[in-house]
Amino acid sequence: MNPTDVLVIGSGLAGLSAALRLAPHRKVRLVTKHELLEGASAYAQGGIAAVLDDADSLENHVRDTHVAGAGLCHDDAVRFVVERGRAAIQWLVDQGVPFTREAGGAEELHLHREGGHSHRRIVHAADATGNAVQRTLVERVRAHPNIEILEWHLAIDLVTTRKLGLPGERCLGAYVLDLKAGRVRTLPAAATILASGGAGKVYLYTTNPDTATGDGIAMGWRAGSPVANMEFIQFHPTCLYHPHAKSFLISEAVRGEGGLLKLPGGERFMPWHDERAELAPRDVVARAIDFEMKKRGLDCVYLDISHRGEAFVKSHFPNIHAKCLQFGIDIAREPIPVVPAAHYTCGGLQVDLAGRTRVGGLYALGEVACTGLHGANRLASNSLLECLVFSEAATADILAAPAAAVPALPAWDESRVTDADEEVVIAHNWDELRRSMWSYVGIVRTNKRLERAMHRIQLLQAEIEEFYSNFRVSNDLIELRNLVVTAELIVRSALARKESRGLHFSADWPGTLAGAADTVLDPRAPPA
Ligand code: FAD
Ligand code: SIN
Repeated sequence: MNPTDVLVIGSGLAGLSAALRLAPHRKVRLVTKHELLEGASAYAQGGIAAVLDDADSLENHVRDTHVAGAGLCHDDAVRFVVERGRAAIQWLVDQGVPFTREAGGAEELHLHREGGHSHRRIVHAADATGNAVQRTLVERVRAHPNIEILEWHLAIDLVTTRKLGLPGERCLGAYVLDLKAGRVRTLPAAATILASGGAGKVYLYTTNPDTATGDGIAMGWRAGSPVANMEFIQFHPTCLYHPHAKSFLISEAVRGEGGLLKLPGGERFMPWHDERAELAPRDVVARAIDFEMKKRGLDCVYLDISHRGEAFVKSHFPNIHAKCLQFGIDIAREPIPVVPAAHYTCGGLQVDLAGRTRVGGLYALGEVACTGLHGANRLASNSLLECLVFSEAATADILAAPAAAVPALPAWDESRVTDADEEVVIAHNWDELRRSMWSYVGIVRTNKRLERAMHRIQLLQAEIEEFYSNFRVSNDLIELRNLVVTAELIVRSALARKESRGLHFSADWPGTLAGAADTVLDPRAPPA
């Protein structure tokens, strides 16, 4: 295809907001592997953290973020994001997002409270915030004449000067599989933004949608970008436990608004684990649930909000109430069976405060990136805020420079491949990888389990690379190739951390070291 000014890969909040900010000034090509709306952003429930209440302060938000992040957050990144919270929310209001207001049609936005937050500061649209935000932005993106949209297009790999044998280390665009036509397109671009989300699908049980296969992390890594803090995978404490619910999330806001965690007999257990009880940060709550389930041989624990009464529950959590009713659970009258599930990738491609990776012309925004904001554990509702703040910073950086010239790029070479003979191998490897990660790289880790996981990952990696070299690419093969790279980065990072901190808890290294340091892996480092 003809070159474009900016190629945006992914249409979650990071990608859509970047595209909208660039479009008045540059030609944007927006590529997404499903429909525009699909991605984690559309499933966000709780909302977006920002200091809007007079009783709150920026310092409070900064402190809460650092406490949740267990000493590993970068103070410059935390302040950068927190200070821009109000403007980010205003930008969404200006786009037309219908946030919930205070009762009686007041101007003020209603604020929820969530675990780890010392104050009410979660801006929301009832309990389906992401859906409201994404629908509004999708409508805007579709209407913009400077944004060319390619849905059902799966980015396979980035094209770089280095891969083409040219001098320097610069991204020149991407190869993308048109999933409907079944052919690979070459998309040259002066600047490329990876906004492809996280990697929850690397685990068997996850709150994430099917799109979260770590594609951007793996593509960026292969293109030469270091990754940081990949061991910190956040497990959300409360997902609906039901065979047909596919890890449906029960928002943190349910605990924030008084929900209590209970054992099957009705006894509360969080006060035994932490003085903040149900309002402790997620890593603490998820570990406590895991502990109680393993100790007592339970399939799940229970989250009870029924004491707040039917009217309150239905007005604050209409989506969760309706969804649970589909499974025969009336949350206004009975406790909800819940279990933890993989939820958020705190690490990712290492970027600076303008969202720049080490590779020239390549930016990473949203969950695919590691900005330093989340440290060892993300504070609830800081993720959507990070998407907004960093997409503004990155687009300002892109607009400040004249668009670079893009050389002609070679077409995708399929001359040495044939159609796959045994698709079953791909399905089997998907399953094996996700089960191994769940069993060996979960909430509580040990050296032995991590080494076991690494052994399996390496075997899978060899098999998948052979498949990739010999057969025509397909959706499942590309995603599996990326998942296995992401899994390896998670396990390598976990093995490198000789302590327990935030989301990374090792039974072999239970203590926390005095000095906090990022785990950085560099694809250009010589093998150990
Ligand atoms: P996503 O929204 O995941 O978007 C990624 C996009 O990239 C998708 O469009 C996907 O299709 C596309 N893509 C991926 N790979 C490729 C490829 N190879 N080629 C082309 N396109 C590709 N955070 C909060 O702050 N508040 C909340 O209340 C909240 N609730 C959550 C509830 C749930 C159930 C989940 C799963 C997450 C929640 N989070 C919340 C986290 C937050 O939603 C995500 O971190 C955030 O939405 C990430 O946005 P993103 O734009 O980086 O990625
Ligand atoms: C939730 O609503 O519990 C999710 C919030 C988040 O992931 O930040």
